[in-house]
Amino acid sequence: MEKAIEIENLSYSYPDGQQALREINLAVGLGQTVALIGPNGAGKSTLLLHLNGILRSDGTVRILGVPLEDKNLKWVRSKVGLVFQDPDDQLFSPTVFDDVAFGPINMGYAEEEVRGKVSQALKWVGMEGYEGRSPHHLSVGEKKRIAIATILSMSSEILVIDEPTANLDPRAKWELITLVKGLPMTKIVASHDLEMVTALCERTIILDEGKMVADDATPSIMSNTALLERHGLATTPERR
Ligand SMILES: Nc1ncnc2c1ncn2[C@@H]1O[C@H](COP(=O)(O)OP(=O)(O)O)[C@@H](O)[C@H]1O
Ligand SMILES: [Mg+2]
Repeated sequence: MEKAIEIENLSYSYPDGQQALREINLAVGLGQTVALIGPNGAGKSTLLLHLNGILRSDGTVRILGVPLEDKNLKWVRSKVGLVFQDPDDQLFSPTVFDDVAFGPINMGYAEEEVRGKVSQALKWVGMEGYEGRSPHHLSVGEKKRIAIATILSMSSEILVIDEPTANLDPRAKWELITLVKGLPMTKIVASHDLEMVTALCERTIILDEGKMVADDATPSIMSNTALLERHGLATTPERR
């Protein structure tokens, strides 16, 4: 199978010495939807930040077969769209239009094409007509949709989403799951929302203390209660 992402021997320590990733080896096939689950502090966000070169370290990251290097960072960022956990980290413009247009403008598209890409992206996330609104006055669910639209407007081939259902009420959560499910590209989703992962992802990887501890079809991970418990992902009644 053709590979969207390949990671070899990736380890990372933050400048303060905190080791966040240990010897990660991983390949994601084109078109796959893969969950990255694990307790708080497992290293999920740190791993996602390596996929478009926001963080760099020893080890190799290949995107669509091309090793990520300084000289192709712009290309990588046009292929790998990263949706941050907190939409306020993604949305910084006075209007929704400006935020969704930022990527295509940066990629050098002409004004007419930019407009087309923005309306298509907003339509895809069900937010047509919001062009003139201020992103900061939207609900969390709406902000999440706009954050996804900022990626869709760049026609990224790989969508990377950090904790998409965090802070969403049940209706907004299921609307978001349906939306993401309908997107055709390769997807990597970090979360500890097992309900969402089960609905969305065919394959699940468990990360704990910076290490990959499981990688299997989602149904077999979800049915392994002992494994989930061992990594802080399922709760059981206290033993007396
Ligand atoms: N900016 C940072 N500086 C130092 N340590 C960090 C930083 N961000 C995260 N860490 C540490 O790296 C580890 C992994 O964090 P993170 O990738 O955010 O985990 P997760 O997303 O799974 O909750 C944790 O021990 C966390 O405290
Ligand atoms: Mg995180």
